[in-house]
Amino acid sequence: MSEHFLVTGGNRLEGEVLVGGAKNSVLKLMAAALLAEGTTVVTNCPDILDVPLMADVLRGLGCEVELEDSEVRITTPAEPKYHADFDAVKQFRASVCVLGPLVARCRRAVVALPGGDAIGSRPLDMHQSGLRLLGARSEIEHGCVVAEADDLHGANIRLVFPSVGATENILMAAVLARGETVIDNAAREPEIVDLCNMLNEMGAKVSGGGTSTLTIQGVRKLEPTTHRVIGDRIVAATWGVAASMTRGDVRVRGVNHKHLGLVLDKLRTAGAEVTPEVDGFRVIQRERPKAVNFATLPYPGFPTDLQPMAIGLAAVAEGTSMITENVFESRFRFVEEMIRLGADARTDGHHAVIRGVPVLSSAPVWSSDIRAGAGLVLAGLVADGTTEVHDIFHIDRGYPRFVENLRGLGGVIERVSSE
Ligand code: UD1
Repeated sequence: MSEHFLVTGGNRLEGEVLVGGAKNSVLKLMAAALLAEGTTVVTNCPDILDVPLMADVLRGLGCEVELEDSEVRITTPAEPKYHADFDAVKQFRASVCVLGPLVARCRRAVVALPGGDAIGSRPLDMHQSGLRLLGARSEIEHGCVVAEADDLHGANIRLVFPSVGATENILMAAVLARGETVIDNAAREPEIVDLCNMLNEMGAKVSGGGTSTLTIQGVRKLEPTTHRVIGDRIVAATWGVAASMTRGDVRVRGVNHKHLGLVLDKLRTAGAEVTPEVDGFRVIQRERPKAVNFATLPYPGFPTDLQPMAIGLAAVAEGTSMITENVFESRFRFVEEMIRLGADARTDGHHAVIRGVPVLSSAPVWSSDIRAGAGLVLAGLVADGTTEVHDIFHIDRGYPRFVENLRGLGGVIERVSSE
């Protein structure tokens, strides 16, 4: 049964919101459990559908997985299966992160290729060329990415772009390879650091996490561990931007504010008072936000996952903002929906120019992915009247307890059946 949100604009958001573990970290940490025989525990897991879906992928590979509240216990057998089939994988792209651990553990992996994505093509060429340098053969066969290695050995790998997924897969393969691997131009996202930390707790020898050069000394065997997922910086920043857009006062907890340095600076440029706190940050916006330019880039640049929220902010800011998307080619598709809400926006290639208007105008709109959906809800909070946001299953995939959290801050939102 499909559902949509009814979002009524006009309220300023006020209060405190707690964010859970990072979606983009937890799935990789769960995949890392494949690297060690025995029971690995991951805590602070967010309550989103991708976690049980990933649990199913791991069960299909022979693991026992128990989920309870925010904890997942994964028991990996001595010999996991190496074939992640289409039924398990098709539901979400991130499942491709089992590729590296399976090659490392089984010397063989067959992972069905997930389908297309609304934000642009998402090839795996860098994942594959990295694994090849480690000594694996890798091809796309019958809709699956296949990788096999008789001998996995260290290598010098220079990525042509600091891809998050490729860095993770190569890293998780290299930890059990013979000898030293150096990954140059590696992704530096906090979620990569989280993964490096967990691998080291398991007995891996990884250094340079958070820098562009990762150095991995392969070891023969890893041991299970218990690891706490870092807070979700994208969810946290979504609430921060919402505070700024609604001229509100919101305290966000459960995240390391250092993971959001540039984002918080941008909110300051928009006129917000931003105070870092031990366990998060606080955003107070008193006047109408001012226009701010954004260019998305790999970390520590402005996250592409926050580009839709940046567009929402620009749509109601005083002045003209220029937004440049450098990571995913089709991410501006959702701007059409913002225009439907009265945004004065034009896109040309990977640039968008947005002239802020004082208030948006409610309309029915459709989410195309998790972040676009959240961006549309934020726009609804500053539109007159009631905005219908459809295809909200996308939003549910990235934002646990979205309605409860937004209501807790004074937002007017209702989940209703579309039938
Ligand atoms: C991850 C995040 C996603 C975020 C993105 C960029 C997860 C589950 N998802 O996605 O939310 O938006 O990082 O911060 O963690 N590319 C290639 N070839 C490859 C791999 C990537 O051309 O082999 C390209 C992609 O098409 C894209 C760019 O590199 O244009 C960045 O992709 P990547 O960093 O790999 O993103 P994901 O890991 O898929």
